[in-house]
Amino acid sequence: MPADTVSTGPFARDPQHANLIVTRHPLLEHKVTLLRSVETPKKVFKELVDEIAQLLAYEVTADLRTEPRTIETPLETMEGAYVDGSRIIVVPVLRAGLGMVEGVLQLIPTARVGHIGLQRDDDTLEPADYYFKIPPGAEGSLHIVTDPMLATGGSASAAVSSLKRRGAASIRLMCIVCSPEGVRRMREDHPDVAVYAAAFDRALNDKGYILPGLGDAGDRLFGTL
Ligand code: PRP
Ligand code: URA
Repeated sequence: MPADTVSTGPFARDPQHANLIVTRHPLLEHKVTLLRSVETPKKVFKELVDEIAQLLAYEVTADLRTEPRTIETPLETMEGAYVDGSRIIVVPVLRAGLGMVEGVLQLIPTARVGHIGLQRDDDTLEPADYYFKIPPGAEGSLHIVTDPMLATGGSASAAVSSLKRRGAASIRLMCIVCSPEGVRRMREDHPDVAVYAAAFDRALNDKGYILPGLGDAGDRLFGTL
């Protein structure tokens, strides 16, 4: 953590990256360490992505508005708090973002799911889009874009631009590992979109891979190495 990072309880906020919220929790750091290891097999990799996504979803939704709801406990009437999960749309960036959906749905089973297909060109590092489908009601919904890797930021920025073109006004990006370049790109292109991450890594290599990173998330999730 840089010296000027402000630690606010479980979160770390760096004044240089005001759009970034890194969740600090020993269990999360432990799971990300296992995820990074080249020795972690595909099955465990997928399980870890699920678990990390669930823990991150808890933070991404920490300030959701609740509605009062009167219920009967076995003992008396009380006013509880209710979250309308159908107003949350999880939007994985294909392919790797798909791996995070189940973890979010375990926490918010009534959330709906959209899909954005983007493939980063290995040479130019520019994303090409091949699929877009989101549920209706973009205007009134919180969109949680999931993608384990925020590298150059090209894919995440394009995904958010597509959502905005379809009327989405409330968007958050949930990734596992991000780079300084990706966070900067998101801040320049979409200053209104908060980036939630489990780890803020050092840099990109000359092929656009995050260092130390975890390698190619899609390949490790789907066994296409
Ligand atoms: C990976 C990753 C992100 C993107 C990040 O996907 O899942 O979507 O690269 O890189 P960027 O920030 O530089 O755009 P990739 O395009 O390799 O597709 P995949 O998920 O199908 O493997
Ligand atoms: N995509 C990945 O899957 N990993 C990286 O490090 C960068 C982009």
